[in-house]
Amino acid sequence: MIKSICCIGAGYVGGPTMAVIALKNPHIKVTVVDVNQERINAWNAQNLDKLPVYEPGLAEIIAQMRNVNLFFSTQVNEAIQQAEMIFISVNTPTKTYGLGKGMAADLKYVELCARQIASVATTNKIVVEKSTLPVRTASTIKSILKQSQNNVQFEILSNPEFLAEGTAINDLLNPDRVLIGGDYHTPEGKNAIAALSEIYKNWVTTDKIITTNIWSSELSKLTANAFLAQRISSINAMSAICEATEANIDEVAFAIGKDSRIGDKFLKASVGFGGSCFQKDILNLVYIAQTFGLNEVADYWQQVISMNNYQKSRFARKIVQEMFNTVSGKKIVLLGWAFKKDTNDSRESAAIDIANYLIEEQAELHIYDPKVTAQQIFTDLEKSTTIPQEELATKIKIYNHPDTIFQQAHAIVIVTEWDQFKTFNYTNIKKQMQQPAFIFDGRNILNPSEITQIGFHYIGIGK
Ligand code: UDX
Ligand code: UDX
Ligand code: ADP
Repeated sequence: MIKSICCIGAGYVGGPTMAVIALKNPHIKVTVVDVNQERINAWNAQNLDKLPVYEPGLAEIIAQMRNVNLFFSTQVNEAIQQAEMIFISVNTPTKTYGLGKGMAADLKYVELCARQIASVATTNKIVVEKSTLPVRTASTIKSILKQSQNNVQFEILSNPEFLAEGTAINDLLNPDRVLIGGDYHTPEGKNAIAALSEIYKNWVTTDKIITTNIWSSELSKLTANAFLAQRISSINAMSAICEATEANIDEVAFAIGKDSRIGDKFLKASVGFGGSCFQKDILNLVYIAQTFGLNEVADYWQQVISMNNYQKSRFARKIVQEMFNTVSGKKIVLLGWAFKKDTNDSRESAAIDIANYLIEEQAELHIYDPKVTAQQIFTDLEKSTTIPQEELATKIKIYNHPDTIFQQAHAIVIVTEWDQFKTFNYTNIKKQMQQPAFIFDGRNILNPSEITQIGFHYIGIGK
């Protein structure tokens, strides 16, 4: 039975996943390591508001398990040495240079981990891929680990994480399934699969723990994300048709969702999907397909991303068009920056593209998000607009609190579906704004007839 786990990478996946494993396995010592000292300090912060990841329910588990059987540290080598099982949970961003630039996954962090494990380990280890990786990455890891001089046996498993941010703790506690890919034809492979299953069996029923070969497991993760993203692009494509006709996307989604073959989840039309996974994983899938000469397959999946880009720019253009073709010098309130509600993560958030477009149109942006820090918003915008922060600060204003943000505004643009945006007092807000007052609801969270009744000019998605 496993007694000691190490997780390399203390990010949005590694942090919450290890917190739940520690919670459910009090007999296992779980050490989460990262090269980023600042991040580890934040995980160890006394003030739980300072944790690097915001997830409902996470702070409570950290408070309960930290320094009991859950540890955060920068001592990577020591943790590797002590552990019987090592999870690799480092980032695998899209490559920004060289071969496969803009498409392939950048595996340099994964490779560095494998090399470090190979050089440090002095006892046998089970190495678990947690990060989403291209198919056959396990063989790369295997060949690196084989170079170990210390006469150590490594067994590789793929155990992709399916949690969604904002609901990570609930997803981890009640997973639809746990997927373990491994070498089930060999006794060593079987033992490794059994060892990892034992950990999950402390809270997940056996029927939900699925075993496949390692390549199926790797490909299933990419496939799941591609299918989920495809549903959003499909409903967003229909939202454009709805806007051109008198159909209403929420009614269409409701009607088709009743077909049990289709199902009603993940059919919410929006300003476009964001997050660190969907775009990256599909680009990765497209690259893999191209590598195998499967160009039709590559084109098919590429279209999911093209549709998402189209949706974001269509929404941004609509704002300008509706406001009499100019937003120059107009005060526009952007509600939300995170890529979805209940997270402080803004990676690939549609908000970034919308803001970028509006800045180019010379709008005066006033931004509020309940969890994303002002510094993060500046960093995101600096990267996307290439305007230095000092200059950006003259064009945008970021608020910690929405109290005064609406004064003299011309328009409100809802980009993230935070619950609090639904219950703002829009009657009062309207009185503070310039007339005609516009609301662009990029998430369809408000009731159009109520908002129109108040006197707003309301523009939603697909209606
Ligand atoms: C379809 C719709 O299902 C039905 O709701 C609508 O009213 C009419 O069109 P139909 O074409 O009769 O019905 O059969 P369906 O079961 O949908 O199959 C269509 C085709 O898809 C068949 O060739 C079937 O073999 C194929 N199919 C279906 C697959 O290849 N894989 C599947 O998983 C399901
Ligand atoms: C996704 C997968 O859901 C998860 O299983 C995987 O492990 C990681 O990638 P995540 O990106 O955290 O999770 O969040 P998700 O809930 O999938 O939302 C992704 C984006 O799609 C968000 O921007 C969200 O707002 C958007 N979305 C989601 C829609 O626009 N409409 C929907 O109906 C659902
Ligand atoms: P994810 O959303 O996949 O969890 P994050 O970027 O939030 O991605 O987290 C990945 C973490 O992995 C980062 O904190 C990064 O510092 C860490 N990391 C990357 N490479 C290494 C490495 N070789 N050793 C330790 N930590 C690493």
